[in-house]
Amino acid sequence: MTLRSVVRGAGHYLPRRVVPNAEFEARLDTTDEWIRSRSGIERRHFAAEGETTSDLAVAAAAAALADAGMQADEIDAIVVATSTPDLTFPSVATMVQGRLGMTRGFAFDVQAVCAGFVFALANADALIRAGQARRVLVIGAETFSRILDWTDRGTCVLFGDGAGALVLEAAEGAGTTDDRGILATDLNSDGRHKDLLYVDGGVSATGSAGQLRMQGNAVFRHAVEKLADTAHRALDKAGLSGADVDWIVPHQANLRIITATAQRMQVPMDRVVVTVQDHGNTSAASIPLALSVGKQRGQIKPGDLVVTEAIGGGLAWGAVVLRW
Ligand code: UT7
Repeated sequence: MTLRSVVRGAGHYLPRRVVPNAEFEARLDTTDEWIRSRSGIERRHFAAEGETTSDLAVAAAAAALADAGMQADEIDAIVVATSTPDLTFPSVATMVQGRLGMTRGFAFDVQAVCAGFVFALANADALIRAGQARRVLVIGAETFSRILDWTDRGTCVLFGDGAGALVLEAAEGAGTTDDRGILATDLNSDGRHKDLLYVDGGVSATGSAGQLRMQGNAVFRHAVEKLADTAHRALDKAGLSGADVDWIVPHQANLRIITATAQRMQVPMDRVVVTVQDHGNTSAASIPLALSVGKQRGQIKPGDLVVTEAIGGGLAWGAVVLRW
């Protein structure tokens, strides 16, 4: 028998304000046509004034708990992936814990930027398999609108705000690829590439939050190469191949990256969950958002083999193979 981390529920939350590409045309030298054709993005949600990452995370967590039919006090641990916490500390995860009314267990944040949810899932899976927690709420939540330079057309049109969450629960599996739950994970980072995508401020460097800076073209090239590689490695570890995949649920940064990765994995686009047109790049929130939306659309069903893959600042990248 093998202990597996099985998905029991999924949920998401998007701030109410929807901003179409056309809104950027008025204040920047850009067009709806450029944004759509270069990134696939048509609109994104932005948090209201005063609406914080923990607000988004709590709403997504509540939706995931409802979907799982569980109460907050049945959860042993909360892992939040975010690079845009409400405050420098405490963690968003402990804020969520408090607001859900949980009085036991433990909570902490993981920071791996756009790859954050993949890192959080791998950590939650390790906690479950080590016997540290039986039920873990894994959340990706971001308010990237707070760190955008609204004069930089190369970045500010690409990002959005949102949150998604999964409830994982320990369950005995047979130890085969037919088991439900997380079957394999693959995590990577390479700090030599830190200048390709970073925020130019922070507590100990500037004492300010800073703004996002990206060499989009260079990140694009790394993404196309590294995402298919990590997905293949994770599938290999699980003893599976691209032919076994029911759904790729990729980080939603750019439709051209999503398409190129699917091609390299030899998975047709009708087996890829795509939400980038509606959400933009929501960093660590993009995969759990897409998982929850994919489930709601009736795309992802129990027993389906799902591969998630993501890359972001660091660079940090990775993939998770799971049976839904
Ligand atoms: O989530 C973390 C990981 N991040 C990513 O995966 C993002 C990866 N990168 C990308 O998605 C793409 O590189 C972008 C969408 C950011 C840019 O697409 P690109 O095809 O790589 O364009 P580019 O950066 O090479 O720029 C092409 C041209 C440039 O003009 P020149 O130098 O050729 O005259 C840019 O100045 O497009 C220009 N440009 C714009 N034009 C209109 C850049 N941003 C805009 C804009 N509107 N918003």
